[in-house]
Amino acid sequence: MSPTFEYLDQTLHCEGVPLADIARQAGTPVYVYSRAALLRNAQAYLTAAPLNALVCYAIKANGNPAILRLLAQAGMGADVTSGGELFLARHAGFPPQRIIFSGVGKRRDEIEMALAEDIRTLHVESEMELRRIADIAAAQRQMTRIGVRVNPNIYAETHPHISTGLTAHKFGAPPETAVSMLQFAAQHPWLEPAGVATHIGSQIVDLRPFAQAAHFLADFADEMAGSGIRLAYLDVGGGLGIGYGEDWRLKSEDWILDTDPTDWVTAVAGPVQKAGYQLVMEPGRSIAGSAGLLLTQVIYTKHQGEKSFLIMDAGMNDLLRPTLYNAQHPILPVHASSFIPHPSSFDVVGPVCETGDFLAKARPLPPTQPGDLLAVMQAGAYGFAMSSNYNGRLRPAEVLVEGERFRIIRQRQTYAHLLDGCE
Ligand code: LLP
Repeated sequence: MSPTFEYLDQTLHCEGVPLADIARQAGTPVYVYSRAALLRNAQAYLTAAPLNALVCYAIKANGNPAILRLLAQAGMGADVTSGGELFLARHAGFPPQRIIFSGVGKRRDEIEMALAEDIRTLHVESEMELRRIADIAAAQRQMTRIGVRVNPNIYAETHPHISTGLTAHKFGAPPETAVSMLQFAAQHPWLEPAGVATHIGSQIVDLRPFAQAAHFLADFADEMAGSGIRLAYLDVGGGLGIGYGEDWRLKSEDWILDTDPTDWVTAVAGPVQKAGYQLVMEPGRSIAGSAGLLLTQVIYTKHQGEKSFLIMDAGMNDLLRPTLYNAQHPILPVHASSFIPHPSSFDVVGPVCETGDFLAKARPLPPTQPGDLLAVMQAGAYGFAMSSNYNGRLRPAEVLVEGERFRIIRQRQTYAHLLDGCE
């Protein structure tokens, strides 16, 4: 298995393509994805999953249509969280019976769209939402499958912004409410209670809370079965976290899935299979994250007091994760000639007018000059997806590499985009 990203002739490559070639042709900042890595990550889940399991890629991690097509063709389902993502999923060719609609606040038009597409299930998160779905299903006289997202009140170590499984969070229904929601659905002529779901949070690397959640779901479903409601599937939510920061290495053994999902799948599949249910999973980050990087160029360097800054052409509008979650993305120089000796410490910042506009702080990097390219690694998930036009900046291009070739799968915006839909 050849590495996705590696230095060949002292220059960083994605598969067989030197990143400098991509910068030359597509400009910077640009997101670069490896097709092979995306497929390998997807395959890792599909192979480890029990035969009848459904692996639904969480589109929110990276919704580029070319990437979605690839994952749909690989046999994945889709986890969508809005009408927009449902549109993208159908456009990419995910079959409706492999689409799950999650999310805490589905609007009427989004529910209608889900019914029109006849997707596998809607995951309901409150009694009010369930009643609305019931009304729409009844009005349209359409049998509608629902799952209930239960909030298991399980703590998992991750950033507070992406921890979701505690009662204090807005997500899911408490177990008692979930029971009455499923009973309501079972008695309703146009609703079918199909499953139960949790999602305890994202970027969790410890398997224990996931296993705990899977046990919780199996016990919950068994109790429902005891009261005459037999569910078809248990959905354990998002997948495994990936390596950022210190624990990340550019080594052939661990450059892809620094944490192999096989153990994760085994941990969640055990209790679900034992109880005799279909397993559903919704990985996002672990599919796209390690397959992509953000390629950016130094505009200026600047020394101020004790500090040295690298002012890049990518900022928080392109990659929000460092400032929003204090995420530590590895940053590699594209040309490695000056890689080894005496790194100095730099704040790697963007041009946006915010002190919080940084890609990394106090990061050891080799001497760097304007025009040098840096690669912000592990950026394939929640990178472009969270980008914006803040400060009038154009959303970056996206490139997909396949072997020795690459193509632009999303053009960089132009200034005309800033006028889109305006009078
Ligand atoms: N399913 C549901 C219902 C979710 O809410 C999420 C992520 C996933 C699946 C996918 O989880 P994953 O496998 O990616 O951990 N913007 C943040 C991450 C937010 C995750 C939100 N929900 C970040 O950049 O870290």
